Amino acid sequence: MNILGIETSCDETAAAVVADGNKLLSNVVASQIDLHAKFGGVVPEVAARSHIEAMLPVVNEALQKAGQTWDEIDGIAVTAGPGLLGSLLIGTLTARALAELKNKPLYAINHVGAHVYANFIGHDNPPQFPLLALVVSGGHSQFILFQDHGNYQVLGQTRDDAAGEAFDKVAKLLDLGFPGGPAIAKAALDGNEGAYKLPKAKLGEDSLDYSFSGLKTAVLRKCQELALEGQNSSDAPHTLPSHQIAALLTRAQKNDIAASFQKTVVDTLVDRMLAAYERYHPKTVVIAGGVAANKRLRQELSRRLPTTITYAPMELCTDNAAMVAALGYWYAKAGRSIEPSQLAADSSLAM
Ligand code: KG4
Ligand code: ZN
Repeated sequence: MNILGIETSCDETAAAVVADGNKLLSNVVASQIDLHAKFGGVVPEVAARSHIEAMLPVVNEALQKAGQTWDEIDGIAVTAGPGLLGSLLIGTLTARALAELKNKPLYAINHVGAHVYANFIGHDNPPQFPLLALVVSGGHSQFILFQDHGNYQVLGQTRDDAAGEAFDKVAKLLDLGFPGGPAIAKAALDGNEGAYKLPKAKLGEDSLDYSFSGLKTAVLRKCQELALEGQNSSDAPHTLPSHQIAALLTRAQKNDIAASFQKTVVDTLVDRMLAAYERYHPKTVVIAGGVAANKRLRQELSRRLPTTITYAPMELCTDNAAMVAALGYWYAKAGRSIEPSQLAADSSLAM
């Protein structure tokens, strides 16, 4: 069964064709990173406009690269949420129109769930259930336990910033570039992760929730302190505006902050993952989403969990439509299609 996937929840316009939920026939991603880099973050209005321009060429390219005609496509799966509303609208309206025109079943997919299904692609032996997933990206940070396809529960999540969002904000503070995750990871390679002791939020013994807002503030305060060191300034450090900080820090200080910050995020996530593992004894542990590309996170999970950690190749960790098509296959098997007129974009769609 061939499913065409469509994804436009943030700043990637993507389409892909996946057969039987695991064979990747094509995976086309038009990234807008260059458009947003100069603003240091994704600008929703710019993203939506760019999706409009890229959407149909990307769909056509995905079909062409898969060597498929419309007759060979069995269904269309599209991200319905969560994400930026203006961006989601372009993908969902395109999918609705195509489903009507081409007379194909339509599947409304949750973007966070789709990230998990990137791990089913390219494996003849699919991941086994129960499956514990950590989905960490720019917009979401959740632990999810799947007992089977379509049968899952969210075990814990961030109370404030998503993990990737925290990486992006600290990278902006240090003026390391956008997206922040890879920039922090690179700077951290030359830094000392023990240089600064940063706080890990405590949210109760049993909770699998976590928080990054205290950590972010601690990073800001430490940077303000370092920036004013040796400046002979009588100003209180916390009054130094964040946009002035990066220019007052040395490269070595930035690298040490990046490394100490990354270590704290990784330890926070791995502590919770280990607790969830010991509580639920899953057969498979997967990490998904853009932050799953982080090497330090992968290393620490492998070191501390007594099991193999499954993760997708880089291009399937960050936003793509192949993961949407992969989950769409299981929707098709379960008969979970939706009338095109009923499909709505939902920026805060829950798992
Ligand atoms: O899954 P994704 O492409 O988009 C969303 O659904 O948000 O994730 C993007 C996020 C960004 O916040 C980016 O900074 C982060 O993933 N990211 C990383 C790394 N590569 C990307 N974070 C930490 N380390 C990385 N190597
Ligand atoms: Zn994502």
